Amino acid sequence: MARVALVTGGTRGIGLAISLALKEQGRTVIANYANNDEAAAAFKAEHGIDVAKFNVASFEDCEKGIAKVVEEHGKIEILVNNAGITRDGTLVKMRRDMWDAVIDTNLGSCYNTSKLTFEGMRDAKFGRIVNIGSLNGQAGQYGQVNYAAAKSGIHGFTKALALEGARFGITVNALAPGYVDTEMVRAVPAEVLKKIVAKIPVGRIGHAEDIARGVAFLTSEDAGFITGSTISINGGMFMY
Ligand code: CAA
Repeated sequence: MARVALVTGGTRGIGLAISLALKEQGRTVIANYANNDEAAAAFKAEHGIDVAKFNVASFEDCEKGIAKVVEEHGKIEILVNNAGITRDGTLVKMRRDMWDAVIDTNLGSCYNTSKLTFEGMRDAKFGRIVNIGSLNGQAGQYGQVNYAAAKSGIHGFTKALALEGARFGITVNALAPGYVDTEMVRAVPAEVLKKIVAKIPVGRIGHAEDIARGVAFLTSEDAGFITGSTISINGGMFMY
């Protein structure tokens, strides 16, 4: 039977490409989303992938949402923690709610979803967890103390959980995308973005599919010896 894969933030941007790549691989994919019902309905209609609405920043929401996914589709054996937001601003201008929202959504979500799926993977003696980090969690970025802290936290979370999962056949890895052509990156002021893109050694911004291919590789059956690692997919912008 096809393995069940949950992709958080899986109906738009990089998450959408990941959902499609995992479906292509023969997985039963469930794409989670938090707010945008219209985009989720369009995604489901176009791609025939089921969607699950719950807020990954809330443990209670995840409990209900994941229980429903398991009831309807079976045990989750592949988890992609992709959901993420930005609330950019220099520290001086950053309000506490901007800090909390990014930490809870981008990092707290990894705790919530992993906590609620890990035992199922352990019982199955198979699991694949891929956490989407960021170039900006590795290198830092002006105006992103919240985002860089959360993404950097993801890299530590990944290594620690990889140690806990190793003897149960559960691999836990991270991917660190650079600048990818998504709504999130398009929200960066045009003149700032132009300067950033000019610094990408391969000479172009990334595509969501560049990241999705990495996730498909890390979640494949063949990737069982890769755990606790971070694959940087950033066009050579930062070599770590
Ligand atoms: N390094 C040094 N100085 C910088 C700088 C940088 N990278 N960026 C801006 N500054 C300076 C400006 O030159 C300016 O200096 P002066 O006052 O002397 O002119 C000062 O900082 C203030 O800059 P702004 O006027 O731009 O300040 P702002 O508060 O209006 O905006 C900002 C600040 C929100 C951080 C804005 O610059 C911005 O959006 N930057 C881009 C942030 C970014 O890259 N976000 C990534 C989003 S995509 C993503 O996160 C996905 C991923 O994983 C890669």
